[in-house]
Amino acid sequence: MSYECILSEVKDGVGIITLNRPKAMNALNSTLCREVGEAVDGFEVDDSVGCILITGGDQVFAAGADIKEMKDQTFADLYAKNFPYIQRDCWRAIDEARKPVIAAVAGFALGGGCEMTMACDFIIAADSAKFGQPEIGIGTMPGAGGTQRLTKAVGKAKAMEMCLSGRMMGAEEAERAGLVSRIVPAEELAEQSFKTARKIASMSRPALTLIKECVDMAVGSSLDDGLRFERRAFEATFAFEDCSEGMNAFAEKRKPEFKNR
Ligand code: HXC
Repeated sequence: MSYECILSEVKDGVGIITLNRPKAMNALNSTLCREVGEAVDGFEVDDSVGCILITGGDQVFAAGADIKEMKDQTFADLYAKNFPYIQRDCWRAIDEARKPVIAAVAGFALGGGCEMTMACDFIIAADSAKFGQPEIGIGTMPGAGGTQRLTKAVGKAKAMEMCLSGRMMGAEEAERAGLVSRIVPAEELAEQSFKTARKIASMSRPALTLIKECVDMAVGSSLDDGLRFERRAFEATFAFEDCSEGMNAFAEKRKPEFKNR
């Protein structure tokens, strides 16, 4: 599939999406947003893909929504057409993916770009990464999860400060605050994030999907509800051929050969 604003490829079970508007710091215009949504949806139904990796390359993830495209919009336009005027918004496509989605972030991840990383299941950051919701600086506010997902990830104090002042968070602070799963040297971001994605892609798909559902459940439910849901999900894995294969392989001291992958 050939796109205008992203690159997409499948390698060793990993569906890789690279945001590709280098001259505009990968600013998210409607074409890019539509293409990310289409690529994610495409990988979702591609049996050769077990994990999705979204990156902006080694310089910048994305400097936010394309302000030049956005600046003349009216409230009526945004409200009636759901900016950025695409059927399937990319943040929702990522959020709704059943397959694991990883963000690999170098440089700025701002505004809608930061929101895109937070819609992913987890973020691997280069030491150059900078996260921020600077919309206040242009007289607006986050509109694709910034006030919600950032607050759930780093707590009210940091989210408030970042959204109200536009202050950015570097990789180390982001790791300390729990926004990113780990930091790698910038020059190793592509390799390390791909290795992680490839490892996940080699696991039992139905088990991965259940784990995703359970961890997501923890974000929005009470502990009791979450624990009950997790117990049923754990029991359900015993219906998978892959579960019996994994346990037998362990007992027989060999590598498991998962069928559902
Ligand atoms: C359009 C952008 C852009 C953006 C950068 N560029 N960010 N174009 N939209 N969000 C373009 C610049 O116009 C410039 O192109 C080129 O990228 C390089 O940017 P510079 O500003 O020259 O680089 P630098 O001085 O290094 O500063 C980098 C920066 C700054 C700190 C990231 O560009 C910046 O503050 N960008 C805006 C960040 C922002 O406010 N994001 C939130 C957007 S609102 P030219 O051709 O001019 O040289 C949002 C809402 C989401 O995201 C809502 C979702 C529903």
